[in-house]
Amino acid sequence: MSLSVIKTNPNDKGSIHLNQEDFWRHSLTTAILCKKLATIIPNTDPEEAFIAGLMHDMGKLVLLEFTKNSYEIALAQASKAKATLAALEREIFEINHAVLAAELCRHWLIPDVITNAIGKHHEPLIKEESGPDQALAELVSLGNQIAHMMDMGKSGNHLISTEAIRYLNLKKADFDFIQKTIKAVTKGVEDAAKLFGFRETKLIEANPLPVALGLEDPEEKMLVQLIVSSKNHLIIDLSKEPLSEDRLNSKSLKAIIYDKSIPDSEKERLKASQIPALDFDQWKKQYKTDSGMYPVSYLHVWLANP
Ligand SMILES: [Fe+2]
Ligand SMILES: [Fe+2]
Repeated sequence: MSLSVIKTNPNDKGSIHLNQEDFWRHSLTTAILCKKLATIIPNTDPEEAFIAGLMHDMGKLVLLEFTKNSYEIALAQASKAKATLAALEREIFEINHAVLAAELCRHWLIPDVITNAIGKHHEPLIKEESGPDQALAELVSLGNQIAHMMDMGKSGNHLISTEAIRYLNLKKADFDFIQKTIKAVTKGVEDAAKLFGFRETKLIEANPLPVALGLEDPEEKMLVQLIVSSKNHLIIDLSKEPLSEDRLNSKSLKAIIYDKSIPDSEKERLKASQIPALDFDQWKKQYKTDSGMYPVSYLHVWLANP
């Protein structure tokens, strides 16, 4: 069904802000991630998760098809503003792409559990709700966020939140699994993209550079770890191993991200090393949105050019 939506305009690369190849890479990435996540998240089915992930953003194609210029404006605003695309869509069109896609799913008689997950993928998660329907909705929301962290979809502003981690009760072992999964997913997506005749993207750099993390909040730490590892960086966990002088002087260290868990004396030592360092508390103050989410792109840009 997703494919029949895109078939309305098979060769259209006319959108400035919603490149179709990026869109399908993001949809495939989300689908494969959701399928993998379903193997560790209770009450979810991998096949349902895959379909929900593949179709979750198709409402964007419909909005673009029917409101072309207005949607281009919304996409352009979302990439600049500290607001999600879904919130801007609601302001402009009184419906967002998630809810619109769910309406289509209902029309096509797609099972409720998938329809519900697609419709809710931009909604704040509600702790009180439980059961398989809510579990799949939370899973798709997380899969979408991780896919954006991997920076394979470029539509809209990409925000991450620690909510999904909390609500899905993800543990360190789950994150280790997700980190390992990311590389396999990237490869799977590129193989599938070749079948569609999409251009190749540069996969994984040969020599990942280490990034030292000294974050206190366990959920934020897991989230930043995911972002950093999705860009193929090695992570040095400062709570486990303080940075040795050798490491500091080797110049192989790409960047340091720390918060108050690092003593001031240690901060001074890191600063003196001239390795680019980000105070995560400061970063949060500057960039955290009203909805309590962080724009991933700012962290990506900082990592790329520290
Ligand atoms: Fe979306
Ligand atoms: Fe998405």
